[in-house]
Amino acid sequence: MDGGGIDIGSGAGGGAASGAAGGAPLRVGLIGAGRIGASHARLLGTRVRGARLVAVADPRPGAAAAVAAPLGARALLDPGELLADPAVDAVVVTASTEAHAALVEAAAAAGKAVFCEKPAGMDLAEVQRGTAATDAAGVAFQVGFNRRFDRGFASARAQVEAGLVGTPHLLRSVTRDPGLANPAAVPPWAVFRLTLIHDFDTLLWLHPGAQPVSVYAVADALVAPGFKDAGLLDTAVVTIRFDDGAIATAEASFSAAYGYDVRAEVFGSAGMLTVGSPVGTAPVRYDAAGSHAATVRSDVELFTDAYTAEFEEFAAAVRERRAPSVTGRDAHRALAIALACIESVRTGQPVPLPLAGGTAAPR
Ligand SMILES: NC(=O)c1ccc[n+]([C@@H]2O[C@H](COP(=O)([O-])OP(=O)(O)OC[C@H]3O[C@@H](n4cnc5c(N)ncnc54)[C@H](O)[C@@H]3O)[C@@H](O)[C@H]2O)c1
Repeated sequence: MDGGGIDIGSGAGGGAASGAAGGAPLRVGLIGAGRIGASHARLLGTRVRGARLVAVADPRPGAAAAVAAPLGARALLDPGELLADPAVDAVVVTASTEAHAALVEAAAAAGKAVFCEKPAGMDLAEVQRGTAATDAAGVAFQVGFNRRFDRGFASARAQVEAGLVGTPHLLRSVTRDPGLANPAAVPPWAVFRLTLIHDFDTLLWLHPGAQPVSVYAVADALVAPGFKDAGLLDTAVVTIRFDDGAIATAEASFSAAYGYDVRAEVFGSAGMLTVGSPVGTAPVRYDAAGSHAATVRSDVELFTDAYTAEFEEFAAAVRERRAPSVTGRDAHRALAIALACIESVRTGQPVPLPLAGGTAAPR
């Protein structure tokens, strides 16, 4: 499905880049041909400057072929075959979340640069292993925090850095997904680990230099109460306290009746910045009945340009032999907050950061 799905990765299936040197496009192999993989493959195959999609792998019969064939790429059932192919410079991991960490490590071992969708692992130890493996192999490792590549969000961050809102006191990030079509397919704790992780990265990024010191989370099953016992929480609010005193909130719902809604706000000593709108860039028409605007319906619709830009950054980083602007370390910071939220919901208490032991791993 190209749109309207929830960004939770429902888990249906269970010396790098030499070819990118000079002016040659980065030859990309994509692993995981599900909902977002199909969309990312189309962007890599048709829109991303500096990259060319050459192969798609997915063990689910027919999945890779359906995505690869219209784009003229090779289809494979075995991701290992894609990783062994010398004609692949770099790998984009869009497989089910549980498979991310092993695929990142395998890609690094094969000497491929890696782009991995969020989260880069199920727990902090997995993310640390991926970072260490890509560092040791000397390959680029980028993580899919696409909001950073949205023009509005990037401008907001630049204005914060330029001091235009003064000292940030309150920050806010909101994700409302459209409709919960199949609650049974949503992994436990997805609201934190798969959805709000975008908001946690955004809040950390919009408040550069500050460190989160505690997290308090409240969550419930308001959309699909019948699935609460199975661990599905579909509505959540999180408070994050920073070491400079700033307070951030993040909230998510899996059922916005009006579409896909991503927004952020930074309120500081000199003013306020808001970014994002449920109507995106659609015109608002005013008439005798009131005002009317079409709303954004999906992540793919809202973030097509941002997804394209994040892959262009990945290709550029590989070509220029530098670290991408979003790394495994960013993945680690955001996941630490998600895991602290899980602990907070379990205990009903605020959770200090960094996490004791550092690698809490609820499954
Ligand atoms: N950044 C974003 O905006 C965004 C949006 C959606 C999803 N995501 C992330 O992308 C990932 C996939 O999400 P989705 O919604 O496309 O899920 P999906 O369930 O639609 O697709 C996952 C695909 O991975 C395949 N797969 C499973 N194990 C594999 C393995 N070991 N090797 C290769 N392929 C394997 C499955 O067969 C399936 O085709 C999730 O981790 C999710 O968090 C990110």
